[in-house]
Amino acid sequence: MKTGWEHRQRQVLLILILLGVAGAGWEPHRYFVLEETPGGTFLADLVKDLGLEVAELAARGAQVVFEDNESRLQLDLQTGKLVLNEKLDREKLCGSTEPCVTRFQVLLKKPLEIFRAELLVGDINDHSPEFPEREMTVKITENSPIGAVFLLKSAQDLDVGNNSIKNYSLSTNSHFHVSIRNRGDGRKYPELVLDKELDREEQAEFRLTLTALDGGSPPRAGTSRIRIIVLDVNDNAPEFVQALYQVQILENSPVGSLVAKVWAKDLDTGTNGEVSYSLLHSSQEMSKTFELNAMSGEIRLIKTLDFETASSYEVDIEASDGGGLSGKCSVSIQVMDVNDNYPELTISSLTNPIPENSPETEVALFRIRDRDSGENGRTVCSIQDGVPFTLEPSVENFYRIMTEGALDRESRDEYNITITVTDLGTPRLKTQHTITVQVSDVNDNAPVFTKTSYTLFVQENNSPALHIGTISATDSDSGSNAHITYSVLPTDDPQLALSSLISINADNGQLFVLRALDYEALQTFKFRVGATDQGSPTLSTQALVRVQVLDINDNAPFVLYPLQNASVPCTELLPRAAEPGYLVTKVVAVDRDSGQNAWLSFQLLKATEPGLFSVWAHNGEVRISRLLSERDSPKHRLLLMVKDNGDPPRSVSVTLHVLVVDGFSQPYLPLPEVAHEPAQDEYVVTLYLVIALASVSSLFLLFVLLFVGVRLCRRARATSLGGCSVPEGHFPGHLVDVSGTGTLSQNYQYEVCLTGDSQSNEFRFLKPMFSNILGQNCGGQSGDNPSFPSILGI
Ligand SMILES: *[C@@H]1O[C@H](CO)[C@@H](O)[C@H](O)[C@H]1NC(C)=O
Ligand SMILES: *[C@@H]1O[C@H](CO)[C@@H](O)[C@H](O)[C@H]1NC(C)=O
Ligand SMILES: *[C@@H]1O[C@H](CO)[C@@H](O)[C@H](O)[C@H]1NC(C)=O
Ligand SMILES: *[C@@H]1O[C@H](CO)[C@@H](O)[C@H](O)[C@H]1NC(C)=O
Ligand SMILES: *[C@@H]1O[C@H](CO)[C@@H](O)[C@H](O)[C@H]1NC(C)=O
Repeated sequence: MKTGWEHRQRQVLLILILLGVAGAGWEPHRYFVLEETPGGTFLADLVKDLGLEVAELAARGAQVVFEDNESRLQLDLQTGKLVLNEKLDREKLCGSTEPCVTRFQVLLKKPLEIFRAELLVGDINDHSPEFPEREMTVKITENSPIGAVFLLKSAQDLDVGNNSIKNYSLSTNSHFHVSIRNRGDGRKYPELVLDKELDREEQAEFRLTLTALDGGSPPRAGTSRIRIIVLDVNDNAPEFVQALYQVQILENSPVGSLVAKVWAKDLDTGTNGEVSYSLLHSSQEMSKTFELNAMSGEIRLIKTLDFETASSYEVDIEASDGGGLSGKCSVSIQVMDVNDNYPELTISSLTNPIPENSPETEVALFRIRDRDSGENGRTVCSIQDGVPFTLEPSVENFYRIMTEGALDRESRDEYNITITVTDLGTPRLKTQHTITVQVSDVNDNAPVFTKTSYTLFVQENNSPALHIGTISATDSDSGSNAHITYSVLPTDDPQLALSSLISINADNGQLFVLRALDYEALQTFKFRVGATDQGSPTLSTQALVRVQVLDINDNAPFVLYPLQNASVPCTELLPRAAEPGYLVTKVVAVDRDSGQNAWLSFQLLKATEPGLFSVWAHNGEVRISRLLSERDSPKHRLLLMVKDNGDPPRSVSVTLHVLVVDGFSQPYLPLPEVAHEPAQDEYVVTLYLVIALASVSSLFLLFVLLFVGVRLCRRARATSLGGCSVPEGHFPGHLVDVSGTGTLSQNYQYEVCLTGDSQSNEFRFLKPMFSNILGQNCGGQSGDNPSFPSILGI
């Protein structure tokens, strides 16, 4: 440590030295040393340079004093050698000042002596060039002209002189070179020179290395990266990838479908490369149907397409970039038909209803349309099978439906014709239309009676206006054509007063008998009824109605013989000598009824002499059953009952008077005029009797044959009439069948004839009128009863 005193002493000394130097004007001693020379390096022999003695240095207290009070050099006072105290750094000492000189004095005391000296520090290339930034960015617009110069930051090198930066070089590239310029102070700086036109679209960025090289030996280098960014210039117009876009789209594509995407390239960047699309020369229809996304270039559907309305669209699309350049392309949109339209069917005319029986008639005329095209629009038309109609193509798209022939409403009155129209597209679309055709009625069917003939039965004595039955007819037509009116047709039998006998309800065919019928008067009658419809013209049918009057037991048996109401009672004569079984008389009765109502039976109710007479129940013959004796009363009265077999039975009583006589010469007998010639007469009478018997026998045979024939006929007719109430099977043996016509069974009639006039001339029995016989024989008046036809009147 130096004391304060010493410090002050040195200051005073320095001032003295400075004064001494200025005053002396000596050339200073110069010394040279390279920087970075290690400390302790011998620099100079000061003793020799100053011309002093070695001992003197120590004695006089020699010192080396630098102006800046740095002790860079050391003076060995023993040897007088000047030695470098420490490593020197030129850059630190002098910076960029060249040459680098530090001054110092060598001080000697007693006497004070000052030697001036300079230390020149030499540069060595101990620093490399250094750029201020490790990377430099240079922006160059792409359209810069060739030769354009761009500034670069220069590198620094702390060394000086030849060791400072001498050269710059650029890494190998195609576009740039570096040119070195000299500043006024001799320093060099680099400039970037464009050798070749830049195209950002080709290369937007360059990465180069700038090397600064100093002049040292060996030279040192420093590098910096240069990033050259090529700035875009709108030198590229948007360019569509395709000049013409041809797209096809199905017409049933949904709204929002992507139709096409146009794309224009713009090599520029930024707004220069931002492409927006717009429709150019667009029709209104086009802009209503499609939407162009200005940013993406997507064309989308905004409305459903209809091939049938528009099948193609053409549009130009413009692409513009932000720099105002534009490009164009065309888009052709072809709509492809889809079978989306059902065939349409329009009925032009329809005949409904169609009258039946009409020949081939046009029922319907219709038109078919399919709005699709091609196969999708071709149609096939048909109607269902099984209907009597035909489908005929007419002009163009018209079709006709015709009837195949006459229709019959009665078999079918309504047809549903289903028209099926199919197109030939894929998938096939089908339209069906059903037309209903009514068949209208024509009066082509006459009424039909339920039976061809009707047989009605009515009991006699009916109440007037009795409903006896209903006839009915049907008509398969309809409406008034089937409205049937019934009527009774006039009969051609003039005796049948039909209008007073029968009436018919015209609406429902109910038949009424207007008045009470009498079986005995009218057993059957027939008439025709008509059924007429109200069509135009009317049609009618007829049916036969047979009314069968049924017998009821309304007539009591009527005794023909003996007459009961005769003023003179009829008396039978009985010869006393009559043998048992002698036929006294025969009660003859008839019944106007028929069948079992006319089956008669005879019964003896009372007799004055019971046991003498017997009555045959079935034929009314009264015979004696024993010989008469003298004691028997000559007069007898018999009461007989004649009863029919009806339900309830009706009966009548007969009173018979029998007078027993000894012979026919009794005065009681009104004698015939021929009685006075009995002998000759008897012979003649006997002869006549034989002849009469023979003829009567043959007549009888004839009657039997006739009777059998009539019975057979009747039975056959009764059977054909559907069963008569007369039971033919079990005819009771004790009864007499007296037919309703009043006809007696022939054999009994014959017997009546024989016996009825036993008291009289037998020949008179052959007289035709039966009543006449009775009237004459029994004193009764002859009646012209028409109910007793002249069965005997041969
Ligand atoms: C110079 O340095 C020495 C020792 O290092 C010192 O004693 C002295 O005072 C200094 N002189 C000046 C003027 O600073
Ligand atoms: C520097 O270099 C040049 C040529 O290379 C040479 O002539 C010159 O003497 C050099 N200067 C020094 C101080 O070395
Ligand atoms: C600089 O360097 C380049 C290549 O590195 C060389 O061609 C050129 O001659 C040099 N310039 C000088 C002045 O040395
Ligand atoms: C025709 O169609 C109608 C309505 O569907 C139906 O009521 C009628 O019964 C049909 N007629 C025939 C004959 O099928
Ligand atoms: C007896 O009755 C019959 C039949 O009814 C009749 O024709 C005849 O005139 C009557 N005779 C007398 C006398 O009343």
